[in-house]
Amino acid sequence: MSQSNSDTYERWHAARLAPLWTSPNAHKPPPGPVAPHIWRWADTRPLVDLAFQETSPEAVQRRVLQMLSPHAKSLADEYTCGNVLAALQCLLPGETARPHRHTMNALRFLLEGSGAVTLVDGKQCPMAFGDLVLTPGMCWHEHRHDGTEPVVWLDVLDVPLHQNFGTVVFQPGPVVEPPVTTPDAAFAVPNIVPYAITGRRDHSPVFRYPYADAVRALANAPASPDGARRVRYANPLNGDGAMALLETSMLQLDAGVRTLSTRTNANLVCTVVEGHGETRIGEQTMAWGPRDTFTVPQHHWVSHHSEGEARLFIVSDADVLRRLGVLSEEVQTARAEATL
Ligand SMILES: [Fe+2]
Repeated sequence: MSQSNSDTYERWHAARLAPLWTSPNAHKPPPGPVAPHIWRWADTRPLVDLAFQETSPEAVQRRVLQMLSPHAKSLADEYTCGNVLAALQCLLPGETARPHRHTMNALRFLLEGSGAVTLVDGKQCPMAFGDLVLTPGMCWHEHRHDGTEPVVWLDVLDVPLHQNFGTVVFQPGPVVEPPVTTPDAAFAVPNIVPYAITGRRDHSPVFRYPYADAVRALANAPASPDGARRVRYANPLNGDGAMALLETSMLQLDAGVRTLSTRTNANLVCTVVEGHGETRIGEQTMAWGPRDTFTVPQHHWVSHHSEGEARLFIVSDADVLRRLGVLSEEVQTARAEATL
């Protein structure tokens, strides 16, 4: 670079102008997929115990350990995989986490303990193992624990999306103007729903999805093209996802199943509910067991295997990509698989 050229680049830099031809991204193929990561329950659970010792919800609102991607650039780069942030939240008997609401969609998936309740817009949602509780954006939510043992649940939120869009809004309690909700009993009969529904339509009017219901649905679900059984948590009013932007599903591997490879440009966070198995993600194979959580970053070919029956709870940003018209999902054919 000549002196005059150097001066030119400095003048552009000073003027906040950047030559496209020096960009590390422009006109180049995108970098390959990032490596997955696993939080093994055997390792993380003792660290949750330290959180019980360290602080209380009274002091910090929520006793939460965020599961930050190893690719995060700093503690402020709050994401687990793509547009999804996962965390572990825990309560001791007698503790409460006071009400608040925010634009971020969130969900809870109970991993350990019983007796805790989440109130969502005033509706009581008891939390038992494997239950999913939705706290959609701008719904008031609070937690309390009247049981006798500690409870630990998985929190999943679309925080990265809102941080990128500049749409983060947070409102502390007390609850003002609590919305009128419809009791879950109104939706207890499959395929028949009431006309007179109050509230928003961009999320399910049902906030609690018991694990037993998901297990029953899986038992009757036909296998997906890759060989796994899959069900998704749906809004009973329109069949859409239970909540906007965070797609929730459960995958079951019947005993001995080895799935065909699938690939998507969505990002997944998978939590093992029951069973032991392994997942091949690109060139890496990860063994997993109950309550382990692992990421499936976009663009990897992925396959699962389990000797016994196993279930994975999966949250992804697929709904975001679908709404934008850029979602891609592929299944490798059995013929192609055989030639690998
Ligand atoms: Fe919250």
